[in-house]
Amino acid sequence: MSCEAARIIDRQVLAKEDSVLGLSTGDTPTGMYKELVQIYNCGLIDFFKVITFNLDEYYGLPPDHPQSYHRYMREKLFNYVNVQEGNIHIPDGVAKDIEEECGRYEEEIYRYGGIDLQILGIGPNGHIAFNEPGSDWGMITGLVKLSEETRRRAATHFRDPAEVPTQGITMGIKTIMKARKILLLASGKDKAKITFEALKGPITKQVPASTLQLHPRVTIVLDKEAGSLF
Ligand code: PGA
Repeated sequence: MSCEAARIIDRQVLAKEDSVLGLSTGDTPTGMYKELVQIYNCGLIDFFKVITFNLDEYYGLPPDHPQSYHRYMREKLFNYVNVQEGNIHIPDGVAKDIEEECGRYEEEIYRYGGIDLQILGIGPNGHIAFNEPGSDWGMITGLVKLSEETRRRAATHFRDPAEVPTQGITMGIKTIMKARKILLLASGKDKAKITFEALKGPITKQVPASTLQLHPRVTIVLDKEAGSLF
């Protein structure tokens, strides 16, 4: 899954050197980032003109917090490739004016011409980014509440479960659906049921990822376990 995902990104950047990539965090894409660093080290991909926008960030975590998505991106990718600092965009979880930050983030995406390729994971509850079940599909970048399930899963990465933020800043489903192309990744058996439901089941707000059935250009890359019900 990771190799195929990295290849798709590589092809995107070869076709358009100033591609706007929408990036995701979590356990799913770590292998993909590792592959990208390897491809970069072989001189096969150049990030110099690439623009990146991350999907989300925990509300209240400063960029240097060990569990922040800022830190994740540095440690998994940005520290090892030639992406330019000014081309990296991640919502600021500690912005003074969150509403202004969310509006600014959304506008920045369109200032760069919109997202060419958006990488997505899926939560076992069907969320995409921090758009939890029941989310409004008309939402753009904003501050949202994290579900208890999402907080419980995140707790494994925090020293103390009470430290897991209760809110996040996230691109909305509308923002995600505006991406020209989407690459959905899932691995492991705990993703099998929800991936099947999202892609083959009814299109419903209770399964935010089911919105992807309405997008014209989605590529789905699953490992054997996540794809076991298809
Ligand atoms: P994971 O999270 O990659 O850590 O499984 C995916 C998600 O919850 O969106």
